[in-house]
Amino acid sequence: MSIRKRTPEDFSAIARLLESVRLPAKGLDRTEGWVSEQDGRIVGHVAMEVTPDAAVIRSLVVEVTRQGQGLGGQLLDAAQAQAGSRIQVLKTDSIGPWVQRRGYQPATLAEIPASVLGTTQFEGSLCSGYPVFMRTPGSVQDPEIIKSAVRQRYGALAGGGGSCCAPAASGSRSGCCDSSLAVGYQPEDLAAVPDGANLGLGCGNPVALASLKAGEVVLDLGSGAGFDAFLAAQRVGAGGRVIGVDMTPEMLAKARELAARHGYANVEFRQGDIEQLPVEDGTVDAIISNCVINLSTDKARVFRESFRVLKPGGRLMVSDLVLLKPLPPAMRGNMDAYAACLAGALLKEDYLGTIQTAGFQQVEVVGESRYPFGDPTSDQVATARKIEAAITAADLKAASEAVVSVKISALKPVPAEDTPRRIRVFDPAMCCSTGVCGPSVDPKLVRFSADLEWLKTQGVAVERCNLAQQPMAFAQDPEVRAALEAQGEAALPLIKVDGRVKSQGSYPIRAQLAAWLGVAEPAPSLYTEAVQELVALGAAIAANCEPCFKFHYDKARRLGVSKEDMLSAVRTAQAVKETPAKAVLGLAERYLEPSSGERRFRATGNKRLATGSAKTCCGGSDSGTPCC
Ligand SMILES: C[S@@+](CC[C@H](N)C(=O)[O-])C[C@H]1O[C@@H](n2cnc3c(N)ncnc32)[C@H](O)[C@@H]1O
Repeated sequence: MSIRKRTPEDFSAIARLLESVRLPAKGLDRTEGWVSEQDGRIVGHVAMEVTPDAAVIRSLVVEVTRQGQGLGGQLLDAAQAQAGSRIQVLKTDSIGPWVQRRGYQPATLAEIPASVLGTTQFEGSLCSGYPVFMRTPGSVQDPEIIKSAVRQRYGALAGGGGSCCAPAASGSRSGCCDSSLAVGYQPEDLAAVPDGANLGLGCGNPVALASLKAGEVVLDLGSGAGFDAFLAAQRVGAGGRVIGVDMTPEMLAKARELAARHGYANVEFRQGDIEQLPVEDGTVDAIISNCVINLSTDKARVFRESFRVLKPGGRLMVSDLVLLKPLPPAMRGNMDAYAACLAGALLKEDYLGTIQTAGFQQVEVVGESRYPFGDPTSDQVATARKIEAAITAADLKAASEAVVSVKISALKPVPAEDTPRRIRVFDPAMCCSTGVCGPSVDPKLVRFSADLEWLKTQGVAVERCNLAQQPMAFAQDPEVRAALEAQGEAALPLIKVDGRVKSQGSYPIRAQLAAWLGVAEPAPSLYTEAVQELVALGAAIAANCEPCFKFHYDKARRLGVSKEDMLSAVRTAQAVKETPAKAVLGLAERYLEPSSGERRFRATGNKRLATGSAKTCCGGSDSGTPCC
């Protein structure tokens, strides 16, 4: 899959793609465009019309079968890179929530640059009935800008050098050591890790919470300079393993250098985003994290990823900052406050809800304390001082009352032995529960229905709902609702296995279903589309249905079925069709030929042996002994 700049030769393929989702191609020649290509075929497109101060993004489309693979985001990135510092504007009635997650905000006429009204997309008016969204590069809503500010801040903190826990001139431990003790570490913890690993950036002690055992695999989200990872490494011992993931190169360099210098053979630090963990599925016993998840711009994804990498029965043990009430608006929009773990913090109930939605069970707050906001050594107070000019004393006070440090534990459930694995299919609107009815049945639906029947025979619980008949089932499932809001019906069919979304926009094949549900893959089906057409031709003959024959003849030809095979199918059908007729004729013959009178005579008690025609069993045998 590749993204490239559009050329004029691409126009007809793009027009077809737009038409498939009823988007107009009008005025495309006034835009720059990018396409996503797979196997030489265009499967996605975005266009942008620029004015001196704005970039209008339009015609963003991804082929239905390719949706859910991040192509839309990649295309949008390409357009955004070209938009530079221009204000980006887009108009959509179907992907509003999706673009909002990418930093676009609903906009009014007064907010957007006047030059936008001169573009083909707007044609002088905002009054199309479609909501308009706007993104100002550099604003605090922009996830990429936030991420880079966070990276910058922690890069600088990592490069600060020295140990914050080095003895101060007075002989007492200073700075972050005090704050580490305040958030739950013991003096022995501080003494046990390499000098320089504790930068005083935590807001709890997740290692203490995690009750780690020898031999376990532990993952530290946002491992920083390695403080918690080193403590965890001591708990799991040589037979265990600790993986730290962090996105800031300076932090990783520092942690790796300390691990090497102090001989930590069971710790490794990987560069990566906690929203896209560089870790295999189902390989981790415990996830720890200390004051990091609040920094993520996509916390739901962080918890989904955590769920993915944990083994069944694995545990999530995190310390983080959350809010008891919303922060004052001035604080919410402040980048420094974000990077200092404040402005990105969620309300406590939203944080817990997000963990639950990811599939975790037994989500519990096992500790909650006022964050030592007033501690003169705390990171947040340093930040608060820095942003003092922008934020009033009253705002700071309100913020300090809103923020708490929580310790949260959650479990990834183990599917019980006797709990049937479960597949839920959210179909598009269909006229019946399977879509296998009416005059023209989609072969894909026939195959999929057969695959679901097969899954039932393997002990899988199958549930199917379609948008026309069970709309409430769609509305009540948060993930399905979000997918529909983001992509419209293109998100359907949506398949969930054991509560997790497995695919969107297309029906999976049987091998895929088998892999998801952990059932043995069956022998490849002989019932191909071509075979199906041969069966249909036979049925048309049996039913004396001329239009059916013509329809399936055309389909079979398109599938490349030979005339010889069709003829064989017709002959087989004809033979089957004629068999009952032949049988009844045979019966009639037997009854009506001359010997039949004798047979009836015998039935009335006459015991005289028949010597009639050789065609009846009573017609005598070669040995001369009559069978009767
Ligand atoms: C507040 S510090 C905490 C560091 C460490 N847990 C500790 O207690 O010392 C946050 C760390 O998370 C990392 N981080 C923040 N957002 C991240 C993300 N989205 N993906 C990966 N790392 C991230 C930062 O680079 C930084 O090292």
